Amino acid sequence: MRGRRLRTNDVIRSMVRETVVTCNDLIYPLFVVEGQGIKEEIKSMPDNYRFSLDTLVEEVKELYELGLKGVLLFGIPDHKDHIGSGAYCDGNIVSRAISVIKENFPDMYVIADVCLCEYTDHGHCGFIEDGYVNNDKTLPLLAKTALSYAKAGADMIAPSDMMDRRIGYIRKALDDAGFVNTVLMSYSAKYCSSFYGPFRDAADSSPKFGDRKTYQMDPANSREAMREIMADIEEGADIIMVKPALPYLDIIKMARDNTNVPICAYNVSGEYSMIKAGEKMGWIDGKKVALESLVSIKRAGADMIITYFAKQFAKGELY
Ligand code: PBG
Repeated sequence: MRGRRLRTNDVIRSMVRETVVTCNDLIYPLFVVEGQGIKEEIKSMPDNYRFSLDTLVEEVKELYELGLKGVLLFGIPDHKDHIGSGAYCDGNIVSRAISVIKENFPDMYVIADVCLCEYTDHGHCGFIEDGYVNNDKTLPLLAKTALSYAKAGADMIAPSDMMDRRIGYIRKALDDAGFVNTVLMSYSAKYCSSFYGPFRDAADSSPKFGDRKTYQMDPANSREAMREIMADIEEGADIIMVKPALPYLDIIKMARDNTNVPICAYNVSGEYSMIKAGEKMGWIDGKKVALESLVSIKRAGADMIITYFAKQFAKGELY
């Protein structure tokens, strides 16, 4: 064997290449705020912004023209309260964002993240009782949120809260209301990760007390990830997710080897910002490192990747 024979030039290298990333694989996260004319850069996530509805439409136009096909929406409400009502109240920010995107770009695939942490004054992902997130009292609030986004026209609902049994509960609520074709993508193996730091700045969603260890997974565990994934598939998840991506490639691979459902990986904010910071310092070639990351995530077994690099990728800047 002489491995180098198949590496002599770019033609043969591209012929034997096993993994290719395209725009079809990528989902771009967007942050939506109340107001008008707002396009405010997120300090810890360079080139990512908080958009008001009007600037959001301009952004989606650009993404659409670049060939990106899917966006994932996060809302940042003006007003937070104990029960996260900003997630599901009439006229909530995300449902208005979904409507306005669908009105202008019906073919843009709109995914709505479902969670309460951006909307609660305590910053936790569920209903707090005696300082603890009460699982079963959170479920109806999540279902209400999912329904409100489905009604607004979301193609896909992505619950990221990590409450037990939410997939079955939300699936039933959607089906009962006639939304049988609304896709459910579960953040199944979502770890309690410090890589979410920049996102929490962006969404102002850090827990005000304690941490998320009673609902998000312990980074030390992999077998448990398979239990979460299997439970979600059983409850009706169409797509399962592993999050974060790069430090959890083994989990992606394990999911790929043990299931037949599509797998999404979330290349999270910290993974993004570290590369941006290293690039800014002149220590790494950020574009090449970004592309290598995406290729690796796909090679591990992800069918699709949620990534803040999607726009740069679509612009052809990562090659
Ligand atoms: C909401 C949610 C989080 C992220 C996605 N959905 C934050 C968290 O769980 O604290 C993180 C995404 C990222 O870091 O890019 N629960």
